[in-house]
Amino acid sequence: MPYYTKLGKIPSKRHIQFRRPDGRLYSEEVFGTEGFSGPTSTLYHVHPPTQVIGWKPLYSTKVEYVEREIMRMRHVKSMPMPAKGDAVTGRTVLFGNSDVEIGVCAPAEPMAYHFKNASADECFFIHFGSGTVFTMFGALKFGPKDYIVIPKGTIYRFVFDATKDGEPEPRFLLVESVNGSHILPPPRYMSKKTAQFLEHAPYCERDLRLPEMPMTFDKKGSFEVRIKSRDQVHSYMYNYHPLDVVGWDGCYYPYCFNIDDFSPIVGKHHMPPPTHQTFEAHNFVICSFCPRPLDFHPQAIVVPYNHSNLDSDEVLYYVEGNYKARKGIEEGSLSLHPQGIAHGPHPGTPEATIGATHTNELAVMCDTFAPLYPTKAALAFDDLNYPQSWVSGWTPEESTAPAETNGKSKKAASGGKSSKKPSRVVEAKTSATSGAASRKKTSSRAVGAKNANTW
Ligand SMILES: [Fe+2]
Repeated sequence: MPYYTKLGKIPSKRHIQFRRPDGRLYSEEVFGTEGFSGPTSTLYHVHPPTQVIGWKPLYSTKVEYVEREIMRMRHVKSMPMPAKGDAVTGRTVLFGNSDVEIGVCAPAEPMAYHFKNASADECFFIHFGSGTVFTMFGALKFGPKDYIVIPKGTIYRFVFDATKDGEPEPRFLLVESVNGSHILPPPRYMSKKTAQFLEHAPYCERDLRLPEMPMTFDKKGSFEVRIKSRDQVHSYMYNYHPLDVVGWDGCYYPYCFNIDDFSPIVGKHHMPPPTHQTFEAHNFVICSFCPRPLDFHPQAIVVPYNHSNLDSDEVLYYVEGNYKARKGIEEGSLSLHPQGIAHGPHPGTPEATIGATHTNELAVMCDTFAPLYPTKAALAFDDLNYPQSWVSGWTPEESTAPAETNGKSKKAASGGKSSKKPSRVVEAKTSATSGAASRKKTSSRAVGAKNANTW
């Protein structure tokens, strides 16, 4: 989407006769955004894209949030979530608000239809799996650690490759711009005059993988296209293959970007999260925390400073690296650090990482400018001890505090009966763990904390 390109056959001018081999006209479609003043592409179809029939509502996609009134650190382990559905129906939203939805998907079956999200741009991060997204703009081959950005209105179908022996089953993170804004590279990375990536940008045009052939499937038949709009997926039927574009040009199209192609910006002192920014939309950003050399001042503290990101909630998705250092965090974990509480490295980590020269952590972060709320699905995999994990001396093994949150037991938090124990029990127990005894524990725990370097 960032720059002009073209694929396939297009006429020499816009809006002129462009004929099929049988002499009939191709159908031109201007795919425009922001009232035709934003990024736009012009596509040429074998069949008029208006010929759709048989619509019916299929299912609601309206997300229901819970614990909207509760502000606390959260940690959700997504790996135990079983595979289900396909690459669309298998999506589970875990956190969100009126701007963005963040979730995971472990598809269990192939898509037997095409899909169009008519409400939002979608950004996927492929954790495991490879395959091809067949889109109306062409095919995108993808693999592990690829971001796939699919702009609103694009018709597509995910086809995953068969998983080889010993490889993890497909699984991806999803970020959806439900406020209707477009997920784009940060404007500060781009030339205002040419939309070219500037020299200071951590990635550029050469890193983006654009749609390729095959693009045109000129077939008659009965093809279902499921269209998401108005918090509802509708089923539409096309009497021709919906991917029938012979050519297009413009600045609006899907693409891939592998996180290993993000060139981290490092400094003498610790660099703030905006240096890791990869994409942005209205009211949220997506950042990439990649393996990199650490800060090189001789007295540098190489882990993030404690910080209050006063205007943002922050979700981190942990991809790979030494996360055993972060208490309870593991591959596929999502942590939520809300505005309203300072957060930073776990106790002992700044001291333990002095002299470290490199971090191998890989994580994707989504920061929002409005509070994020969990879904019921998130609470079902919620690590209720996480909020205590910054208290000096706390370890999972020695914690005797009941797994409680805001006066609710784990059972209650996931929809069961309420606990009678008040939330102050948690405060009392955690306070009791600080002190000399807990300080004794800190050094051994901190030894493993070499890489707690995400924000
Ligand atoms: Fe942070």
